[in-house]
Amino acid sequence: MSKKLKILVFPDPKLRTVAKKITKFDKSLEKLSDNMLHTMYDANGIGLAATQVDEHIRLVVMDLSEDRNEPMVFVNPEYKVQKEHKLVEFEEGCLSIPGFNHNIARPDNIELKWQDLKGKEHEIKPEGMLSICIQHEIDHLEGKLMVDYVSALKRDRVRKRLLKEFKRK
Ligand code: NI
Repeated sequence: MSKKLKILVFPDPKLRTVAKKITKFDKSLEKLSDNMLHTMYDANGIGLAATQVDEHIRLVVMDLSEDRNEPMVFVNPEYKVQKEHKLVEFEEGCLSIPGFNHNIARPDNIELKWQDLKGKEHEIKPEGMLSICIQHEIDHLEGKLMVDYVSALKRDRVRKRLLKEFKRK
């Protein structure tokens, strides 16, 4: 049975933690990725980083399919920006920053490496949503958030709103 985990909300300082590399590919890693997928589907998200559920290891889950039946798990994901690239803007959202959507510019041409739950290595040149989404999730593993790409004024406005909203709960 999968468990629903609590998603940290900005400006929770724990979201700023830099996640540690995963070296043990065991049952507990599988269990956490199951729980993260369950939590992501439940919240109607397309991606979730372990940082967001207060687990500070380099694990990301994602599902970009329309039918929500193609779960992906990335262990120790990392990317390199290719020399030939443009910045493309896309409107992003984040489960840790409810009610905030913003256009973020990211490089369109990257090379992505990761391991699966068994520790096997994979490498691709992702396109479109996968490229954007994995960059967003890897930011989380570095303690970086979408609000870091906007002006301090906007960031402060979001911070104040969420502090107020989440104090009431
Ligand atoms: Ni996010």
